[in-house]
Amino acid sequence: MASTPLVEAQSVHKVFRTGQVKVHALRGVTLQFYPGEFTSIMGPSGSGKSTLLNLIGCLDRPTKGEIFIAGESTRRLSDSALADLRNRTIGFVFQDFSLLPQLTALENVELPLIYRGMPGKRRREKALRALEQVGLLPRAHHRPAQLSGGEQQRVAIARALVGEPSLILADEPTGALDSRNGQAIMAIFQRLNREQGLTILQVTHDEQIARHSRRIVRLRDGTVVAEEAVAEPLLAQEMEAVEEEGA
Ligand SMILES: Nc1ncnc2c1ncn2[C@@H]1O[C@H](COP(=O)(O)OP(=O)(O)OP(=O)(O)O)[C@@H](O)[C@H]1O
Ligand SMILES: [Mg+2]
Repeated sequence: MASTPLVEAQSVHKVFRTGQVKVHALRGVTLQFYPGEFTSIMGPSGSGKSTLLNLIGCLDRPTKGEIFIAGESTRRLSDSALADLRNRTIGFVFQDFSLLPQLTALENVELPLIYRGMPGKRRREKALRALEQVGLLPRAHHRPAQLSGGEQQRVAIARALVGEPSLILADEPTGALDSRNGQAIMAIFQRLNREQGLTILQVTHDEQIARHSRRIVRLRDGTVVAEEAVAEPLLAQEMEAVEEEGA
């Protein structure tokens, strides 16, 4: 295992203030995630899972403590430098897919590359390749409303992959899916992790889903209360390829 963690949280605290009310969402979390790891974060509702994922993803900053990406502290980075680091390093997947409804699958996947200023032809090729990786090339020109939930989440994974991130952060990626589609998402994550060495960190409520990863971190009231290595991760079945219409 490499000696420098891809991501490290060091004594991270997060306090939210809403009017008079203060919520101490994270109370000193220290964790390392090494390149090639596939980890699940579990814990009751309100235990700070999403807050931790957002801090690791540089979407927000700790109140106290520090986040390191590839050994470098993010504390002194300006907001734009932080956004830049995030866009180059991290792909996000959310429970509700967060696709733009007026764009096709292909256009949704191209979006992160548009923000990078990549020319159209190259962008399209990369987006098509990312859709191919999730088995959805035949749905490239469908809009989200014309796709099943499982297919929408696979488009969202393609969008997360297209920028060639070293880290995928997924907040309840199977939370809105039935178990068969949840399996399909786990199969994709396992393949990306195994074949491309992609580092994956997912939040889940589902013990069965967590058992597809290789490490489980449990949070309670904003602290890490348990950690375990999954000795024999469950192996998820890939879904059959989507057929071309009329084929
Ligand atoms: N932006 C915010 N402003 C104020 N309080 C917040 C904010 N985000 C989270 N919190 C509070 O911080 C605590 C942790 O929230 P968080 O969303 O991290 O929990 P979670 O473990 O992801 O829960 P769930 O399983 O329900 O998604 C909760 O008490 C929540 O109300
Ligand atoms: Mg959450």
